[in-house]
Amino acid sequence: MSNDCGGYTYDEDAINARKSDVKIHPVLLSRVSPREMTGELVSDEDINSLFEAARWAPSHYNLQPWRFIYAKRGTEHWQKFMDLLWPLNQQWCQTASHLMVVLSSKWAELRGEKHRIPTNSYDAGSAWMSMAIEGAAKGLVIHGIGGFDFDKAYEAVGANKDTHNVEAMIVVGKRPAKADRKQNETITPRNPINTFVSEGIFKNNDKF
Ligand SMILES: Cc1cc2nc3c(=O)[nH]c(=O)nc-3n(C[C@H](O)[C@H](O)[C@H](O)COP(=O)(O)O)c2cc1C
Repeated sequence: MSNDCGGYTYDEDAINARKSDVKIHPVLLSRVSPREMTGELVSDEDINSLFEAARWAPSHYNLQPWRFIYAKRGTEHWQKFMDLLWPLNQQWCQTASHLMVVLSSKWAELRGEKHRIPTNSYDAGSAWMSMAIEGAAKGLVIHGIGGFDFDKAYEAVGANKDTHNVEAMIVVGKRPAKADRKQNETITPRNPINTFVSEGIFKNNDKF
C-alpha cells in the first residue's frame, strides 16, 4: 500500500495485478478483500466514516433501506456475532475489530402509503460497496461475508423476516502495512465484460 492521497491510499499490488480492459478509476481496482488484520481496534471515527460512505449510496426513491448492526471486539455483543460465522471465517476473524450484519428494510412509507421496496437488497448492496471503497481507500480491511448462519443472524440482532432481510455480514479490521504482512494474499481476477453483458436480450451462459 502506498500513494498516500491526503489520508487515502491505493493498493499498488492490486492495481499492478489487475489490468482493466477499459480505463476506470484506480480506486475500483485497488479495493480488495484481505483477511490479514493486525488485531488493533479501528477508531470510532473511522467506523463512522464507513457509515457515512454507506449513507450516500443511491436507492429506490431514496428510501435508503440499508441497516447496519455492528459489534466491536471486546464488547458484550462480540461473541454473539462471532458465533454466527462459519468455522473457517471464525478463524481469520479473530483479529477483526468490528463485525457487522447488513440488513435491508423491505417496506417504507411512500406518499403516505405502505410501499414494498422492490430493490431493498440491491440498495443495501450499493451501500456496502460505498463502505467497502471508503474503507479500502483508508487502508482498512473491509471484507464481505456470506459464510454465516443467516437464520441465527435474525435472532442475534433481533430482526423480523417479515419486515427485514439479512443480506450479509462485514468484517472490519486494520490492515498491516505492506512490510509487516505475513500472508501473501491472492488478488482476484474478473471475468471479461462479454461474459456478463449483452445487448437487448439475455444470453444465458450460466451453468445452473
Ligand atoms: C457478499 C459477499 C460474501 C462473501 N463471503 C465471504 C466469506 O464468507 N468468506 C470469505 O473469506 N470471503 C468472502 N467474501 C470475499 C470474496 O471471496 C471476495 O470479495 C472475492 O473473492 C473477490 O475478491 P476481492 O474482494 O479481493 O476483489 C465475500 C464477499 C462478498 C461481497
